[in-house]
Amino acid sequence: MTPLMRPRGGASHVTAPRPYGHDPSFRRSLALFRAFLREQDDPEGCYSLLARDAADQVEAYDGPVAGRTVVDVGGGSGYFTEEFRRRGAHAFLFEPDLTELGDRPPDSAVVADGYLLPLRDGVADVTFSSNVLEHVADPETFLSELARVTRPGGLIYVSFTNWLSPWGGHEWAPWHYFGAERARARYARRTGRPAKHRLGENLFAVHIGSTLRQVRARDDITVVSARSRYWPFLAETVVKAPGIREFATWNLLLIMRRCPT
Ligand SMILES: C[S@@+](CC[C@H](N)C(=O)[O-])C[C@H]1O[C@@H](n2cnc3c(N)ncnc32)[C@H](O)[C@@H]1O
Repeated sequence: MTPLMRPRGGASHVTAPRPYGHDPSFRRSLALFRAFLREQDDPEGCYSLLARDAADQVEAYDGPVAGRTVVDVGGGSGYFTEEFRRRGAHAFLFEPDLTELGDRPPDSAVVADGYLLPLRDGVADVTFSSNVLEHVADPETFLSELARVTRPGGLIYVSFTNWLSPWGGHEWAPWHYFGAERARARYARRTGRPAKHRLGENLFAVHIGSTLRQVRARDDITVVSARSRYWPFLAETVVKAPGIREFATWNLLLIMRRCPT
């Protein structure tokens, strides 16, 4: 399969409905929060909404994605890729884990690791990675690969849940504040099944301050915006407060641009 061939059947240019006002807005955050609460019962509803919201965010910074090449790295079963395609983008999913891909991945999905994408330099107009950075052991190398495949001037969307976020421990949150192994053991006791994530194996303690310093020091990308992904207000302000931001941001959204070479 050749990566970056056009999606089978062509992409429709229908613009997705915008279900909730402006970003940021209280209504939007409430809708997202409600969807998260229903995630276990209605994953389809939750991730479709999240995908529409993320695509709205990309378009807010970069204009319509129609006709553009979007690379979704670590996109799981493909909700985001499908949403970009619905909006007319040539969107492609790169996901290393077959279990995450599931039974019905999008056409032309590629099983690939974000550290080493089977793509030539500068091929993507938009490189998109939602909630993957905290799952990689070497975020710097992962970001370098995203930058490499993005064209000069292209947009890089990276969001992640930082370790000290109330949701930092994922399924064993917020007990991670008392220690990862203890929180994991508690989860297993309570649910009768082992937790999916283990610190240092498939979940890593990524912090906002150090990540910001890392991306700002790079000469291949510029940071356009660093903000809380879900907050309805003070989304950029909260990220400017050292210490507090580690607890209050919940999920950091970085909008970056590839520098001209
Ligand atoms: C929490 S899921 C996020 C899925 C989707 N992007 C979302 O926002 O719902 C984390 C994803 O990162 C993927 N992942 C982990 N390590 C990766 C790597 N080295 N390269 C690319 N993806 C990776 C996992 O397989 C998984 O699909």
